[in-house]
Amino acid sequence: MKPIYSGKVREIYDISDQHLVIVTTDRISAFDHILPMPINEKGIVLNKLSNFWFHKTQSIVPNHIVDDNVKNMPPFFQNEYFKDRTVMVEKLKMLPFEFVVRGYLFGSMWKAYENGEEFCGAVLSGDYKLAQKLDHPVLTPALKFDVGHDEYVSIKEVESRIGTEAADQIAKSCFRLYELCSEYAFSKGLIIADAKFEFGQNEQGQLILADEIFTPDSSRYWDVCNYKVGVSPRSFDKQFLRDWLINNKANGKFQFEKVPEDVLSQTEKLYHNCLNRLIVG
Ligand SMILES: Nc1ncnc2c1ncn2[C@@H]1O[C@H](COP(=O)(O)OP(=O)(O)O)[C@@H](O)[C@H]1O
Ligand SMILES: [Mg+2]
Repeated sequence: MKPIYSGKVREIYDISDQHLVIVTTDRISAFDHILPMPINEKGIVLNKLSNFWFHKTQSIVPNHIVDDNVKNMPPFFQNEYFKDRTVMVEKLKMLPFEFVVRGYLFGSMWKAYENGEEFCGAVLSGDYKLAQKLDHPVLTPALKFDVGHDEYVSIKEVESRIGTEAADQIAKSCFRLYELCSEYAFSKGLIIADAKFEFGQNEQGQLILADEIFTPDSSRYWDVCNYKVGVSPRSFDKQFLRDWLINNKANGKFQFEKVPEDVLSQTEKLYHNCLNRLIVG
């Protein structure tokens, strides 16, 4: 069987009219580049985390998960490799937006704030420092493009595309998801600075939460122990990798092929640490 789509991290298989199978690989990207070497079991960690959060939030919003047991999938997936990294999902018509809820001021929203520019149609008021917690979480949608970078848009723009009612329903769901899950993560010593959500519509026109949720690939996780307002927090998952790449450039270029074994194994430990702290510890 061949995937119909091969993303940066996931392989998508079309198995029937209603269902897709999504396999999360061990691929890792840094600075928009996929490394030639995998992070052992990263896909399993991401899949377990996403499934954990989908299960925890199913009363807030319906999600696309149909089954996470490969035994209930076509014979092709009955293989040790696919176990724990594969889900069967409802095939949806995806909305062309990503919805990011931000609880802390960082990344592109911080840049806009620093320059006094608007972001997603609004200028943030108040006096903030880098990485500071926002008074209220904000929703910053982005229009997805197949090639190139996504474009931040206002809620008004989303409303004009999908209607006020759907936009409203999504906004409410996003805030409730972020509130519930960031509180839970905080109790385990992790800050979820922001979280990206994708929605799609099923055949009945119902809005369904899809893709992955609250994985280190789609959310910024920070360690409460290292968090300080005004200081750029190191990424919980990719800090060793990014630090090594920055400190080992040759002729101004990142040496993606040369990342040493110990950096890969430290990165692997961080992913497992995230999973263990949230789910076990
Ligand atoms: N239930 C679903 N139905 C249809 N498409 C989905 C569903 N869930 C996720 N997708 C899409 O599958 C792709 C996931 O693969 P991924 O490796 O994350 O790709 P990307 O590199 O584009 O982020 C995304 O394009 C996402 O929008
Ligand atoms: Mg993705």
